[in-house]
Amino acid sequence: MLKLTVLGGAAVLLPIAPSLSTFLGKQAPASPNVAQFEVPLAIPATIEPVRSEATTDVFELTQRLARVEILPGLTTTIWGYIGIFPGPTFRVRSGRQVVVRQTNLLPDPVVVHQHGGLTPADSDGYPTDVILPGATRNYTYPNNRPASTMWYHDHAMDTTGYHTYMGLAGFYIYGDDLDDRLPLPKGECDVPPLLADRTFASDGSLVFDPLGTIGVVGADVMLVNGRPWPRFEVANRAYRFRFLNASNTSSFDLALSSGQPLVQIAADGGLLPAPVSLPVLPLAMAERADVVIDFSAYPLGSQVVLENRQLTGRMGQVMRFDVTRSETDDSAVPSTLRALDPLPEASAVRTRDWVFGPRADSNAMPPVEWVINGNEFDPDRIDARPSLGDVEIWRITNQAVFGLAGMDHPVHIHLVTFRILDVDGQPPPPHLGGWKDTVLIPKGHQARLIMRFTDFRGKYIMHCHNLEHEDTAMMTNFEVV
Ligand code: C2O
Ligand code: CU
Ligand code: CU
Repeated sequence: MLKLTVLGGAAVLLPIAPSLSTFLGKQAPASPNVAQFEVPLAIPATIEPVRSEATTDVFELTQRLARVEILPGLTTTIWGYIGIFPGPTFRVRSGRQVVVRQTNLLPDPVVVHQHGGLTPADSDGYPTDVILPGATRNYTYPNNRPASTMWYHDHAMDTTGYHTYMGLAGFYIYGDDLDDRLPLPKGECDVPPLLADRTFASDGSLVFDPLGTIGVVGADVMLVNGRPWPRFEVANRAYRFRFLNASNTSSFDLALSSGQPLVQIAADGGLLPAPVSLPVLPLAMAERADVVIDFSAYPLGSQVVLENRQLTGRMGQVMRFDVTRSETDDSAVPSTLRALDPLPEASAVRTRDWVFGPRADSNAMPPVEWVINGNEFDPDRIDARPSLGDVEIWRITNQAVFGLAGMDHPVHIHLVTFRILDVDGQPPPPHLGGWKDTVLIPKGHQARLIMRFTDFRGKYIMHCHNLEHEDTAMMTNFEVV
C-alpha cells in the first residue's frame, strides 16, 4: 500500500504499489467466464443541458459509485459520471461554449480533463486542481476545435489510472457544418464504441492490479461501451464508428475477421484530408479513429468479428457485427474530406527535445520508474515556455536502455493538436498525417511533431497515456507565456 498525500491535507490509501510477489508470478485472478457475442452493444446516453443561454450550454454531472451489471448475473461497483460507464456522451457544436458543473460524491479527490480540447488552463484538469469529495467545480469549454471525437476522463494526480479503470471516462463529440455536409453515415449509424480491457473478481468486482510500473497488463475481459464482447446488430449498409481506446495500458490492432479493410476518415483532431483504407488499424491508448464499415456486401445472417490482432484467443476478439436486416443507404465516403491547414516546418521558431525513458528506481518493481528528460513530474517545475502564437517542433525520443529495456509510450500533449513531421526520419503513413493529440512512439523510436500554441496562456502538461506511467511520473509541465 502506498500512502498518498493530496491537496487539502486529506490522505487516501490505494493499492497501487504492487509487492514483489505480485511481480514475481502471482497470477491476476481469472475473471468469471462470459460467453462472447451474447450481450447487445450499449450506446451511452447523450447528456442534455440543464440550461441553454445565449452563448453557453450548461450541463450538470455527479460523479458517484454505482452498482451495475457488466458481466451477466453479477454486480460490479463502478465509479461513474452520473453513475454509468462509459459516462454520458456529450454532443456539442464546434464554436458553442459549454459549462460543465461537476459534483464529486466519490471517496477520492477527482479532476476532469477534456482530452483533445483547446481549453483555458483553469478548466483543463491540471492534476492537482482537484474537486474534493463533496465539492463542486465548473469547467468551461470554448469548444473551438473543428468536428472531432474527443473524450473526457479523470486526471487526478497519481490516481488517474485507478479512477479511469473504475469507470470515469466518456465521449465528448464535436460536430460542425463541414462534417454535417459530408454524406457520411449519421444518426443511428454514427456509433461511438469505447474499448477498454478489464479484469473482474468472481463476485463481479473490478480488479485493479497493475504489474508494477509496467501498467495494467493481462486483463482477460474485453469491454465495448461497458459490455463484454458485445454483439451489434447492423443493417446491410455503412456505419461510422468512432473508436476510442480507453484502456490503461493496452494498445490494439483492429481488423475485421472477413478481411474487409477499415476505412479511416478521422483521427484524434478530426477529419483526415482523404479516407485511408487499412487492413489493420493500430489504436494506442487515448487515440481515436473514426472508421466507416460498409456491411452492404454481406448476405443477411453474416457475422463479422472485430478482432485485436495483437492478441490471440478471446482477447484477440473485441465485438461482433451481425448483419440482420436490409436498409437503404444514401451515405457515401467522399474521396476528399477536409483540407488540412498548412503548418510548414519552416514556420517553427525552435525545436525542443524530449526523451521518454526509464530511470533506475530500486523502490519500484521492476526497478525502473518512467520519466521525461530524466526528471520525475514536479508540479512546480516548468520544462518549456513556448510563447503564445509560436510554432515549435518537439522531437520526442523513446529511449530503450541497452536497446532492450523499455516500453512503448503513447505521448499526449494537452492544449495543442499537432502534426507528425516524421517518424525516424520518414514521413508518417497517411492515417497519421492529420491532426493528432496522442502519438504512439514505440521503444527505441523517435518522432518530430509540429504544433502552434494558440488561444490560451498558462500551465499545461504533456505525458505518457499509459496511465500507470503517467501516475508514476512520466509527465512534464509547459507554460504558454
Ligand atoms: Cu487523456 Cu492528460 O489525458
Ligand atoms: Cu488531454
Ligand atoms: Cu509510457
